[in-house]
Amino acid sequence: MNILVVGANGKIGKQVVRKIQDTGNDTAVAMVRKEEQLGPFKEMGAKTALVDLEGSIDDLASACKDVDAVVFTAGSGGHTGADKTMLIDLDAAIKTMKAAKQEGVKRFVIVSAIGVHHREKWMDKAKYYSAAKHYADEWLKSSGLDYTIIRPGGLTNEDGTGLVQAAVDLERGEIPREDVATTILAALSDNSTIGKSFDLTSGKTPIAEAIKQV
Ligand SMILES: NC(=O)c1ccc[n+]([C@@H]2O[C@H](COP(=O)([O-])OP(=O)(O)OC[C@H]3O[C@@H](n4cnc5c(N)ncnc54)[C@H](OP(=O)(O)O)[C@@H]3O)[C@@H](O)[C@H]2O)c1
Repeated sequence: MNILVVGANGKIGKQVVRKIQDTGNDTAVAMVRKEEQLGPFKEMGAKTALVDLEGSIDDLASACKDVDAVVFTAGSGGHTGADKTMLIDLDAAIKTMKAAKQEGVKRFVIVSAIGVHHREKWMDKAKYYSAAKHYADEWLKSSGLDYTIIRPGGLTNEDGTGLVQAAVDLERGEIPREDVATTILAALSDNSTIGKSFDLTSGKTPIAEAIKQV
């Protein structure tokens, strides 16, 4: 399977590409926006695509060619303003969904954020971010794509434990990025996660088992 990783140069994205390459069966297509970001992915044996998420749907569709699944783990990051949040976390996410549809790619896994499906729980300081994530998720749900929406809690850079909790609603908590990356791969290889959306934090259940129970 060829898996397009959008946001490959990010902290989760890099781990997803590495884990895909480590399967030995699947190939990552690492999508980045700058030429100088390509080297490490080529060294891993991954395919690459050079596309800026602020570009056109056709640019994104070119990255979706010959791809079997898309993982969207890009984000505007905490240091940008509401303008970039809207352009990346909302607009670029939906453009990528449209590009996938245009190229006939059915499977789409997105990294959202814990609790954003409850508007009444949006924190004032994160309201643009929550709105962007929420409405991107809503668009995905009605897109006809075979989606999985993963809504992790606060991300840490600790080593993964392989143990999580996954459910439609969880209390806020944290999770290592590595466990989110492992969950993305587990979702891609478990078709029972198609059409599912779930919060994800560290827990006590092995990842493959936890996502099956959602
Ligand atoms: N931080 C948290 O606690 C938290 C909690 C829940 C969910 N999340 C979500 O988890 C996801 C991944 O998190 P992370 O820590 O891996 O994020 P990250 O390290 O900030 O990675 C985000 C990636 O998106 C890429 N990107 C941004 N704008 C782009 C553009 N115009 N064109 C191409 N690529 C672009 C960035 O590219 P560059 O490398 O070129 O900048 C970066 O590689 C994000 O969607 C985030 O919102 C975060």
